[in-house]
Amino acid sequence: MSKGVVFSGMRPTGKLHIGHLSVLDNWIDLQKEYRCYFSIVDWHALTTAFENTSNMQENIRMMLLDWLGAGLDFEKSPLFIQSQVKEHAELHLLFSMTIPVSWLERVPTYKDQIQQFKLQSKDVATYGFLGYPVLMAADILVYRADTVPVGEDQLAHLELCRELARRFNYLYKSDIFPEPKAKLAQIPLLPGVDGRKMSKSYNNDIPIGATKKEIQEKVQMMITDPARIKKNDPGNPDICVVNTYQSIYNKKEIDEIRYNCRAGNIGCVMCKKRLAEVLDEILDPLRERREYYEKRPDLLCEILETGAKNAREEAIKTLSLVRDVMNIAVKW
Ligand code: TRP
Repeated sequence: MSKGVVFSGMRPTGKLHIGHLSVLDNWIDLQKEYRCYFSIVDWHALTTAFENTSNMQENIRMMLLDWLGAGLDFEKSPLFIQSQVKEHAELHLLFSMTIPVSWLERVPTYKDQIQQFKLQSKDVATYGFLGYPVLMAADILVYRADTVPVGEDQLAHLELCRELARRFNYLYKSDIFPEPKAKLAQIPLLPGVDGRKMSKSYNNDIPIGATKKEIQEKVQMMITDPARIKKNDPGNPDICVVNTYQSIYNKKEIDEIRYNCRAGNIGCVMCKKRLAEVLDEILDPLRERREYYEKRPDLLCEILETGAKNAREEAIKTLSLVRDVMNIAVKW
């Protein structure tokens, strides 16, 4: 073990969809070689969802179940809720003293997102939202993590994290913080069942925790080649959502399926039936694990508590070094 230290987090905004499976599989691989910390970042969720927090409890529970279902090992790495390790907040505060506001306003995603949320008539021009990347840097650096598995959309945030680390080390003549690198996973670009971007708000997503029946319904909704009316009309797999999924989840049969689609040998109904079976094969072990944990709410609490305790142990050490170099620990 220990190629280094990994931190990653997800905002508890609802059920994970099947596209996230490859993210979690990547985390599971990292668990084998790195000291990992995985956090459900509820404070980050609050930066945009502060007005309505009614789903927070359930979202956190769902996220933990999705993680455990996917096979994350809570005995190898702490799985915990961000707000249960207060050191994230202390480091966030201390970083916020050192970072120029202009650095934050310059983050390319910031103005875009403010605009986007405005379109949904949501005002996120808050202090907390501006500080989103500072909190994210605190999440990572409080464990002095050097490796951060994230999607490309987070690269700008990670760049800011490195700048913060460098600035802190320079200001206080220390070498407490590493400059963490992103670890980009190969994540397949999955469309939603209607061919648009997969998103809960379009109701075109496939949740990781979907039952057999839900899988059938979702696959049923998938858009196929509209020119195919009868089952032996020749089809064009390149404009078919079912085919995109087959190419990711059914690599073994994909060539045959494409050939038979083009030749009009296999109809959309059959093709969808096969896809549903393949997805069920993948999801069955996840469902089983998920069910196991779902029946044990006490165990879920214990996992989060132990996770927070173990994470805190490391975070406390970092903060003690930080207070020391900043000269805010009483020494007389
Ligand atoms: N901003 C990340 C996202 O939306 C979530 C996150 C918060 C995170 N803190 C983090 C990811 C620290 C990696 C490391 O996906």
